[in-house]
Amino acid sequence: MTTLAVIGGTGTNQIPGFESTGHSLPDTPFGPTSGPLLEGTLSGHRCFFLARHGTPHHLAPHRINYRANLWALHAVGAEQVIGINAVGGIEPLLVPGEVVIPDQVVDYTWGRAHTYFDGSGQGFAPEALEHVDFTEPYDREMRRQLVQLAELEGLSFSASGTLAVTQGPRLESAAEIRRLRNDGCDVVGMTGMPEAALARELGLRYASICLVVNPAAGLSDALITLESMQSALAKGADLVQRLLNAYLRAEVGPPG
Ligand code: HPA
Repeated sequence: MTTLAVIGGTGTNQIPGFESTGHSLPDTPFGPTSGPLLEGTLSGHRCFFLARHGTPHHLAPHRINYRANLWALHAVGAEQVIGINAVGGIEPLLVPGEVVIPDQVVDYTWGRAHTYFDGSGQGFAPEALEHVDFTEPYDREMRRQLVQLAELEGLSFSASGTLAVTQGPRLESAAEIRRLRNDGCDVVGMTGMPEAALARELGLRYASICLVVNPAAGLSDALITLESMQSALAKGADLVQRLLNAYLRAEVGPPG
């Protein structure tokens, strides 16, 4: 039995079927979280849920208080965290509706509060400093389980992939996507970092489920619009929910 928290992203700031039994508005040494931390059940299994962009969706990727979010999840006793990310597909096979369980990340963000070890004395003592190992940014066991369950659920998915995290909120230029492709990235989103690194600093096991909602810039003739992303999200949210349900059944155990 483990305690699992889900961080929902764009289009998944509610999970269909999640029934809230309570909520808190945690105050952390880093300030407030993106919004209320919900405690509840998904298919009868207990978990925590936090909407990364707030409810309603209003926080731009660079304005999210990632440190507060992860700190609060750690404080309530979460052991595992699954981040849901809407992404653009860089690898041409990764078309809208595909699910990717990334195994690597490249961080292109800047200016975000990205570590707990900044000498401020908030959270940890000012002299605390750890250079956490980030060779494998995502928890190997959680990924293995997600991949196995995606297979069992019959999802169209990719068992690995490198996530590029850009600053946003604007989308990329075609040349920027060519650069990311040359760097070995398969999908691109705006919120995967510093989330994954902060989870590692706190010793939280962390994995991501990425849902492709558009071909990345320059890879299709169509303009990338919020409407087109939202329609892909509406279709794909169900896949994410199925995978989460299966994960909860397998990892969290029977309702208690
Ligand atoms: N780029 C960056 N972030 C995204 C995209 C994209 O194309 N689609 C969804 N989130």
